[in-house]
Amino acid sequence: MLQIFPDAFSIADYVSGTLIEKIASKPDAVLGLATGGTMEPVYARFVEKARRLDLDVSRLTSFNLDEYVGLSADHPKSYAAYMRQHLFQHLAFDSSRLHLPDGLAPDLQQHSREYSARVQQCGGIELQLLGVGGNGHIGFNEPGTPFESPCHVVELSERTRRDNSRFFEDNATVPASAVTMGMYEIMMAREVVLVATGESKAEIVARWYESDVTEAIPFTILKRHARAKILIDEAAASLLPERVRQSLLAAPAPVAA
Ligand code: F6R
Repeated sequence: MLQIFPDAFSIADYVSGTLIEKIASKPDAVLGLATGGTMEPVYARFVEKARRLDLDVSRLTSFNLDEYVGLSADHPKSYAAYMRQHLFQHLAFDSSRLHLPDGLAPDLQQHSREYSARVQQCGGIELQLLGVGGNGHIGFNEPGTPFESPCHVVELSERTRRDNSRFFEDNATVPASAVTMGMYEIMMAREVVLVATGESKAEIVARWYESDVTEAIPFTILKRHARAKILIDEAAASLLPERVRQSLLAAPAPVAA
């Protein structure tokens, strides 16, 4: 399930190709989307290819993984704003089919239950994109999150707030909590593609490789998913045992659409 690519661009090329193939064969697919620095090149490449192919995205449904509590969809640092900036504004999506948790919902617990129910009503996620936190979180399911948890409100760890402070003015302005799809919805996705790029992910990728499935490293659960891929670049692979790196690097490069 682990594949090494030369760099973030070649992963973006591959993942955008996977998305294009999925949408071309099923224009009303339900996609699970992620935000963060890792996904920026993926969406940029996808937009480029979708425009060139005149891909119809109007029947797609999407569910984003997470949103910060306390930020409105208009807030420039919200994940809603991120999605508009990097993906939604560039193609002819039907905005009524694009879902993100509402960080301003008056009753966040109730909202989490409704978000989870909405995913199920739409038939569940067919293809879930994931990045991974430096501490192994997926969505904002921080280390220690029970594997069966559905969509919920989470207090962000110090590590996550520090890592994400690069998107804010300083650490103090990073929201303390978020609504996130749970491990349950992620594992129910029919197919999962996790991307990890850059040196800052090398340590957690090596821990993932060495570790059994454990709630202490949330993305180890993907070892139990029948159709999950972990795509990493050489920088993120740099702390894997040498023999593993060599054998994966020698594998034929996956072909991008
Ligand atoms: C974002 C998300 C997070 C990020 C992770 C990595 O929607 O769910 O799990 O994927 O924090 O973030 P970057 O890509 O910024 O390193």
